[in-house]
Amino acid sequence: MIPFNYYANNFNKGTMDSLLIRNKIDELASGIGQDDFSYNELVKLNEENFFLAIQVSLSQCYKYEFNSELAEKANLFGNKKFYKFRAKVEQNFQVFIKEKLLTEIKAWDITKPAWEYVDYLEQLISNHPSYNHKFFTEFLNKLATEEDLRFYLAQESVPRFDDLLALIQIGVPIQMKMELAKNYWDEMGNGNFNNVHATMFSKLNHYFNITPEYTLEKVLPFSLVSDNLSAMLAIYREHYASAIGFLAVTEYCVPRRFKFFIEGCRRLGIKEDVLSYHILHTTIDGEHANSWFREIVVPMIEKNPYIANKITEGAILKLNSSQYFFDGIIEKLSYTHNKSSLAVEVV
Ligand SMILES: [Fe+2]
Ligand SMILES: [Fe+2]
Repeated sequence: MIPFNYYANNFNKGTMDSLLIRNKIDELASGIGQDDFSYNELVKLNEENFFLAIQVSLSQCYKYEFNSELAEKANLFGNKKFYKFRAKVEQNFQVFIKEKLLTEIKAWDITKPAWEYVDYLEQLISNHPSYNHKFFTEFLNKLATEEDLRFYLAQESVPRFDDLLALIQIGVPIQMKMELAKNYWDEMGNGNFNNVHATMFSKLNHYFNITPEYTLEKVLPFSLVSDNLSAMLAIYREHYASAIGFLAVTEYCVPRRFKFFIEGCRRLGIKEDVLSYHILHTTIDGEHANSWFREIVVPMIEKNPYIANKITEGAILKLNSSQYFFDGIIEKLSYTHNKSSLAVEVV
């Protein structure tokens, strides 16, 4: 893996300001730039920290996939320059995925019954270091200040799980659609606006005063990796099996991580009402994960045993990108607050 402290310590050094990159891409999307920003320019101006520039670029390009209002103001249809730029950034991201995020996967034994894959996947998740990362098992629950929590939430303040669910429903068999639709309806608060998960999450943003400006200023490039991956897997239909694996891990890991977060908030005296989103997800995502495995993953493998490896690939991407994020944020917070005892060991 890349040494994480490199990014924490070299953040903004020898690179374009991330807001400038975002502005340049907006100009490209709208076709209003005087001099069109090119991929070559991105390379030239970000030699020191190219990987970070790629994450910011991809995040800005994908914003148009998840925001109709923004897309409506742009001029994307037939915009060759924008899509050429995005394709080159994606190609670079692909290299990073292959070299750094896709660790060796033992191929699924296709002679085994499909239901055994659930055990295999659960083992894979619970044996991965991100499942027990000290960022939440030691830091969030026992040490984080309110400002640390604010900083952390800013990294995760764009919960677009509902949109990812909507995207991966396209073109799949009815049985899968039914399970995804059930999950989606839960995201929609089962028809009650106040119970929509995104609405519940916004209470946290309000309490911690996490504004879009604060998020843009504080978001760390290594926090964008997982977001960029989920967007890429959900947007391109060819990746649907990996998207299923990626989101299966997301659902499975949430209850455990959120329990530590809630512990930290209670330690700081934060009211239960503010925590309603997290409290709900300590139970509901366990149920979601179980039905996801049973109603989506197993039938997919029953139909085509070879697809198991694609699902695993998605799972690995989620696990490794989470590890990358937790290592990065703990390093960043240690660096900022001089909590050297928290720093991860870099190998
Ligand atoms: Fe949710
Ligand atoms: Fe869920």
